[in-house]
Amino acid sequence: MDFNNPQKPFNLKPQDFGKDFVFGVSTAAYQIEGAHAVHDKGASIWDQFTSKKGNTFNNQHGQVACDFYTKFEADILLMKSMNISHFRFSLAWSRILPNGTGAVSMDGVAFYNRVIDFCLECGITPWVTLYHWDLPQALQDQGGWAHRDVLSWFKNYAQVCATYFGDRIKHWIVLNEPMVFTGAGYFLGVHAPGNKGLKNFLPAVHHAMMCQAIGGRVLRAMVPKAFIGTTFSCSEITAYSESAKDVLAAKKADALLNRLFIEPLLGLGYPTEHVPVLAGLEAYIKPNDLKEAVFDFDFIGVQTYTREVVKHSYFVPYLRSKIVKASKRNVKTTLMDWEVYPRSIYNMIERFNQYQGIHKILITENGAAFPDMLFNGKVHDKERLHYLQAHIEQVHQAKKDGLNVEGYFVWTFTDNFEWAEGYRPRFGLVYTNFSTQERILKASGKWFKTFLGS
Ligand code: GAL
Repeated sequence: MDFNNPQKPFNLKPQDFGKDFVFGVSTAAYQIEGAHAVHDKGASIWDQFTSKKGNTFNNQHGQVACDFYTKFEADILLMKSMNISHFRFSLAWSRILPNGTGAVSMDGVAFYNRVIDFCLECGITPWVTLYHWDLPQALQDQGGWAHRDVLSWFKNYAQVCATYFGDRIKHWIVLNEPMVFTGAGYFLGVHAPGNKGLKNFLPAVHHAMMCQAIGGRVLRAMVPKAFIGTTFSCSEITAYSESAKDVLAAKKADALLNRLFIEPLLGLGYPTEHVPVLAGLEAYIKPNDLKEAVFDFDFIGVQTYTREVVKHSYFVPYLRSKIVKASKRNVKTTLMDWEVYPRSIYNMIERFNQYQGIHKILITENGAAFPDMLFNGKVHDKERLHYLQAHIEQVHQAKKDGLNVEGYFVWTFTDNFEWAEGYRPRFGLVYTNFSTQERILKASGKWFKTFLGS
């Protein structure tokens, strides 16, 4: 589907992407599992953050979410019936290590063993993310990502996961979008743990950076034949005008949003020249750190949903750049007020291809929230279907042009808990009735099933 030419039919098949290309769906523990306090599970920063009034839309939380904890078999069977053969989910650190370190919860391990074994029984390859934003609260109480000890806490957690699941899990993702969990959680305070300011953000950035590589090294050493990656949020950035100020503002935003975490990983250091405030990172960098932040991942997970238009602003501290909301630009938007701009995914694949040292790129998340209407037991989510088709076409074009991209995962399988936005934005291929936990395949889900089966 081409948004500029809606008459043009979508006629790609999975085979057109080559034999190594994988299609799948992505999820995250806190957004789907529920069962926040079963067995000896410890609280996570999201349990804590959502327990405080005013932090999320209508004070919603993930205590039940999609109840994946008890419904995982039905959900995985539904996936199978939709011809989905790759399933990305994350492990909840505090379900496995209730205090973040120390004793392992055998009930937590048993839950993930059941999920993994059931995937394998159904012929679905499990892709595991070690960290998708739900730090154990016990570790946050000691400073969380802003505390240097997180390096050893994370190393231990990765070792525990490799020990218990490494015999069956061969596809690993270390971190999900470090820019988002440090930026929203430790600078803006709009995500858990709700902390603000540079004194939280800068150490959190540097420690997350170190943990990317630490996690990679643990998995490489402990899991034979592992395929190991880590993911980055990124968006094409366009300057609002050609004025020198706006162009500079766009460069700064690009350095912060798109380059901050990938470049030190590749040995290029922090992009401090465009974001001078990052010089404050120096205070947290120990002598060997920048060497140890480098790791040779098998793949990089690129996660793109939109593009950003950026202009100069005197009022934004440090950066002097601000995002011009899509709703103010007279463009097609999703429910998140994100511009529908499929070319961004092509451009980000191209950008990441230009770096030396990236072996493979996988789109580990892409999708959209629209105001879905359940009508006569059906959800005719035409806009999502078109969004997915348009983005998949761009990925195909990238492949055709010789760019190195080997996978595409839809965000997400079922509608779920969308962080601070609560349950309002629905991103699923499958509609969730949150009162009954009924699942209803949307038109986009039916289309994806047909596409995968074709
Ligand atoms: C990503 C995140 C997901 C999901 C998605 C849609 O940034 O990794 O957990 O929420 O955005 O907003």
